[in-house]
Amino acid sequence: MYAALRSVGAYVPSKILTNHDLERLVDTSDEWITKRTGIKTRHIAAPDESTSDLGVQASRKALQRAGLEPEEIDLLICATISPDYFCMPSTACMIAKKLGISNVPALDISAACSGFIYALATAKAYVESGMAQNVLIVGAEKLSAIVDWSDRTTCILFGDGAGAAVIGGTREREEAIRDVNISADGKYYDYLITPGCGTERPCSEEVVKERACFIKMKGNETFKVAVKTLTSDVVDLLEKNGVESQEITYFVPHQANYRILSAVANSLGLRDEQCVITVDKYGNTSSASIPMALNDLYEERRLQKGDLLLLDAFGGGFTWGSALLPFSPRE
Ligand code: ACO
Repeated sequence: MYAALRSVGAYVPSKILTNHDLERLVDTSDEWITKRTGIKTRHIAAPDESTSDLGVQASRKALQRAGLEPEEIDLLICATISPDYFCMPSTACMIAKKLGISNVPALDISAACSGFIYALATAKAYVESGMAQNVLIVGAEKLSAIVDWSDRTTCILFGDGAGAAVIGGTREREEAIRDVNISADGKYYDYLITPGCGTERPCSEEVVKERACFIKMKGNETFKVAVKTLTSDVVDLLEKNGVESQEITYFVPHQANYRILSAVANSLGLRDEQCVITVDKYGNTSSASIPMALNDLYEERRLQKGDLLLLDAFGGGFTWGSALLPFSPRE
């Protein structure tokens, strides 16, 4: 049995926060943000919208496009760093509850911006081993809830949203996910971190006063490791699978920063039409960014059966991952 990408779906909250809006919050400018990141707008969830609410909307689309009812899902994985609840229950359990899925495993994956590729790797392994037939994987983030809105070095980067995909079993080799690579190096743990409110520094008045429960980032250092790792990761994956970069239909990288994406795309020698860029409108939505970008391709009718996708992600941990797969909706 092989594993295949059957469908994608996404959801973005309606509220849009522009760079000009941010100029009123922190000492920044549209010009600085655009030049350094390529971001123009990001979407922000409503106060009563949780991460699982975003994930549910994306999942409904993915399920409908796969022609599946919720009860046909036998594993649900949610990649997130902004869960509904601290520790428990998992956001996957909340999504399952809201979709009416019960009595199947539901689990969260915490791999920051690489979370969707970690979820894809896990789904592939479950399907190939025969432990699952139809896996719903979700990348969902309400990063606006864990961003320090007084820190101009991070608050301009992030946005909210969710993407989902159905990974199903197939006997057709040409439909199969060709390869997924995931990896991590914890020596960089403090480059991208929410230092407070975990067991290392439990929640206290001091932690709250220091705003230590929000995202902190060594942006410049992260940038350098990100470009190097994202490039070597996909070069290795393509080489291992005997695929030339020109054979890829779409390169869909995690949308962190336009400068990072263009540096990686240039070193791979990719043409503009191969590169999928959404960071300008959504900002960095962490684990949701790749499935949201895939959904944009789908809804713009640019994603066709058999298109060869190269996914590439890098995030806190550090974690990273890449995947080579065709889009294989059922006829
Ligand atoms: N507006 C105006 N000026 C700013 C802002 C801002 N929003 N933020 C920082 N600056 C200033 C700095 O204070 C600094 O000023 P100084 O020279 O007087 O000290 C100057 O701009 C340059 O700052 P740098 O941090 O060197 O800027 P850089 O070019 O590195 O851009 C950025 C910053 C956009 C954060 C970049 O480093 C980046 O994209 N890093 C990687 C992010 C990433 O890949 N994250 C991984 C995934 S995220 C996840 O896993 C959740």
